[in-house]
Amino acid sequence: MSDELDPDDHLATIETARLWLSVPPASQAARVLVFDQRNREHLAPWAPPRPAPLDTIAAWRERLLVDRQKARDGTAFLWRLRAMNDRDGAVLGTVSITRIERGPLERGSLGASVDLDHQGHGLVQEAIDGVLDYCANTLRLRFIEAGHAPQNLRSASTLRRLGFVPYGYARDYLHVGGRLQDHVLLQYDLRARRR
Ligand SMILES: CC(C)(COP(=O)(O)OP(=O)(O)OC[C@H]1O[C@@H](n2cnc3c(N)ncnc32)[C@H](O)[C@@H]1OP(=O)(O)O)[C@@H](O)C(=O)NCCC(=O)NCCS
Repeated sequence: MSDELDPDDHLATIETARLWLSVPPASQAARVLVFDQRNREHLAPWAPPRPAPLDTIAAWRERLLVDRQKARDGTAFLWRLRAMNDRDGAVLGTVSITRIERGPLERGSLGASVDLDHQGHGLVQEAIDGVLDYCANTLRLRFIEAGHAPQNLRSASTLRRLGFVPYGYARDYLHVGGRLQDHVLLQYDLRARRR
């Protein structure tokens, strides 16, 4: 679908005290590109290899169209965080739920990042809290999995504060930051959040 036919910015929106989350339309590609470029170095240690470079607005337009389709299909949600009082402003971070499985598992995998100048203000924690509610009550999933490299202490404390519980340790689990890295595996039971 072209962005001309799909211009609205209200797909899978979530509101929290300070943030507005959406799976943005392709018209937001320039803002997403700015976030990506500003944070490339900051996120590099935890970034997966990219099959194709995402260095242009055109490339991001294509990617956002794909992301929107995944959200409509219910297979993955790639939210961008913006300030509640500046919904058309800069992207401040990302939260994603990918690898959604139905059937006996009813699960999804969590990912998150925040702009380098916005770390340490609890924004990611706030956004993930909203996403967990969405997963429990809109997507009706049963649990969310997450993982972090053992040395990623910021990620570890965000996940622990939210109530994620470690259940395993996987050697050479994910190719991030240019090499295979061990990961601590955690999960969050959504049933207590169901309304
Ligand atoms: C991991 C990452 C998302 C965490 O970001 P963050 O801003 O530190 O996370 P939180 O939203 O949980 O914020 C917690 C911090 O905000 C502080 N804070 C300030 N105001 C707060 C509030 N109102 N509520 C909660 N925490 C608040 C907390 O004290 C804490 O500070 P500390 O880390 O110095 O102890 C970020 O470091 C990042 O983008 N890292 C690179 C990508 C990455 O590692 N992703 C995860 C891969 S598994």
